Amino acid sequence: MPELAVVIPTFDEIQNVQPVADAVFSALEGIDFELIFVDDDSPDGTARQVLELSRTNPRVRLVHRINRRGLSSAVVEGMMASNAPYLAVMDGDMQHDETLLPDMLRRLRAGDVDLVAGTRHREGGSRGEFPWARRALSQLGRRLSALVCHADVSDPMSGFFALRRDYLDEVVRHLSCVGFKILVDLLASSKRPVRIQEVGYTFRKRLHGQSKLDLVVGLEYLELLLHKLAGDWIPVRYALFGMIGAVGVVAQLVLMGCLLYFGRLTFDTAQVTSSLLVIGLNYAGDNRITFRRRRLRGWHWLSGLALFALACSLGLYLNLRVASGLSGMGVRWILASLAGILIASVWNYSVGAILVWRINRRP
Ligand code: GDD
Ligand code: MN
Repeated sequence: MPELAVVIPTFDEIQNVQPVADAVFSALEGIDFELIFVDDDSPDGTARQVLELSRTNPRVRLVHRINRRGLSSAVVEGMMASNAPYLAVMDGDMQHDETLLPDMLRRLRAGDVDLVAGTRHREGGSRGEFPWARRALSQLGRRLSALVCHADVSDPMSGFFALRRDYLDEVVRHLSCVGFKILVDLLASSKRPVRIQEVGYTFRKRLHGQSKLDLVVGLEYLELLLHKLAGDWIPVRYALFGMIGAVGVVAQLVLMGCLLYFGRLTFDTAQVTSSLLVIGLNYAGDNRITFRRRRLRGWHWLSGLALFALACSLGLYLNLRVASGLSGMGVRWILASLAGILIASVWNYSVGAILVWRINRRP
């Protein structure tokens, strides 16, 4: 059984597989390790490239995932696929410094540490040629991570770290496994302060290919933070649904203003027109963000919109019945109104999730 497993998530990294493997092999000479690539069925054929490599070298393994995407969940599956007592995680594009792996392993072997993280923000570390927009985003992400991380860590956004298998076993059932930020997930899922050490590294330029970090990855980070902050009490998807609904309320007020003053429409016509437009807006937002893993396209987009609009109209009726019923019983208007909105949003969310985006069905 290898002592160390190096887990590398890959999506469209066919040109980087060989250089990454060569670099890891030369860095870990004399150490009993295995190299596990976790590929999400990359269209460029990365999995086949890894398979070929594993045929000539038994230390190389492939975990090939079908119909599943996501850096964090890929890393967790790769780690769980190994029996090694020590695990390391790094990207598959040569941006992380594999020569630090022996040092990370040595520190873990010492025994009084759960996790060793590579950092760009401490001595010996640097962000290399990191565009300013990414710097600003990373900075914001770092600040937000302090809300949930049970450790004093200088670079929680880093995707380069090593940990003890025991620590993984301790937290694995509490992991959210969404998006990119697996280190934040690991540090936020512990029920005790995490014993952490850090080693500085320079974030290199990507060797081949494109970064997969996009707006959805940013939203998934928000989802991860929501999950850690409130996931035990409210479903994160409902929270996202609620956020999009809140944007819808603001949009409705702006639209009402425009239709009344510039459109010269009557109040009722303006109210109905803006409501229908906002239902469409919310639907598009929920399809793109809240239910992105079940995103509807083409004809399904249209039939989904019709069903969602019907559900929301019934939700509106429920809202009015509950709000007017409560205010009739003397409940203060603001509480009655909020109760109506809450009931309608739970209704809209449940019907949307079950009938429109069919979350209970296999994709
Ligand atoms: N299996 C799988 N599935 N792998 C993925 C996926 C996915 O959906 N998305 C990305 N990867 C792999 C890439 O192929 C690459 O090997 C690694 O995850 C990192 O992805 P990049 O697209 O290169 O991310 P980045 O360089 O912009 O950001 C990375 O570095 C940052 C700084 O350390 C990520 O590790 C960030 O999490 C990290 O903050
Ligand atoms: Mn990268």
